[in-house]
Amino acid sequence: MILRLDKWGTLLPPPSDPDPAGAAAVQELMGGRFGEMSTLMNYTFQSFNFRDKQRLRPFYDLIANIAAEEYGHIELVAATINSMLTGASDKGLAPLKGEGNPHHFLKGGQGALPVDSIGAPWTGDYVFSSGDLVEDLTHNYFLETGARNGKLKVYEMVEHPAARALTGYLLVRGGVHQIAYARALELLTGVDISKGFPAPRIETSKIPECKPHIKVGSHKTLYRFSPDDYKEIVAVFKGPHPETGEELVVEDGPPEGFPPQDLPPQEEVFAPDRSPNEIAEIAKRLRKEAGLPSKPEAEVAPKGRKKAASKRKKR
Ligand SMILES: [Fe+2]
Repeated sequence: MILRLDKWGTLLPPPSDPDPAGAAAVQELMGGRFGEMSTLMNYTFQSFNFRDKQRLRPFYDLIANIAAEEYGHIELVAATINSMLTGASDKGLAPLKGEGNPHHFLKGGQGALPVDSIGAPWTGDYVFSSGDLVEDLTHNYFLETGARNGKLKVYEMVEHPAARALTGYLLVRGGVHQIAYARALELLTGVDISKGFPAPRIETSKIPECKPHIKVGSHKTLYRFSPDDYKEIVAVFKGPHPETGEELVVEDGPPEGFPPQDLPPQEEVFAPDRSPNEIAEIAKRLRKEAGLPSKPEAEVAPKGRKKAASKRKKR
């Protein structure tokens, strides 16, 4: 079972200038072969299919625990795409012809889709779960290396601040997962893959958006994403960090979360409606009838830059 927390794994900047073409490129990190849907589903299926788990517990715990973190990564990629699309239809849909992925506006409500940067749907063909532990771990190391390559390229191609914040965070966290699988293989086979770090050959510590995460130790920490389970990850995630030599750390519980942004309605694409105020009135009445306090107790990030969207006339 998954316990869900309504928090983001990192802070993303509030919506700024919309960037539909950039949002289409960021989709590669969602639904591409090496995107976050792939890491999530590879580790999820490998953990579902894991046999003899009681005797092989440290390896099972490692794969299952990393799968849980990947859920939060697809959430962040979606948040970034949604933020970059916010405000794009402020002047209507006509100016968007030929901009980015038309499905963001025509199929969805200016939201992330489970597709890659050319709009091809993510496919279960990207999942590798052979059942052979050495083979699966080798695949996972390769997957994290390819994912790192993809993040670096998106970082270079898309200068939007949300995309840069996202890739900075994911490069650091993906680096931790890359180390985890390299260490697991080393302990299992004696082959020291971590001698090839960093792979690809760009040091995360040189990237400005990675620095705040490195400063708080996120680059050497594996968080245990469960109240009581996956305790045996400590048997594998240990020893020196391949690049810095620092001792690897397992921290109990998820990382500090951040309140998600409450993105404004995009009425041109009916998200959540052409007249969101009417739905808000119904929700207000239902909340009152349910005896809930007048203000939602759930926390969202403070409002960012005001968008022209809120001033636009209703049709
Ligand atoms: Fe990830």
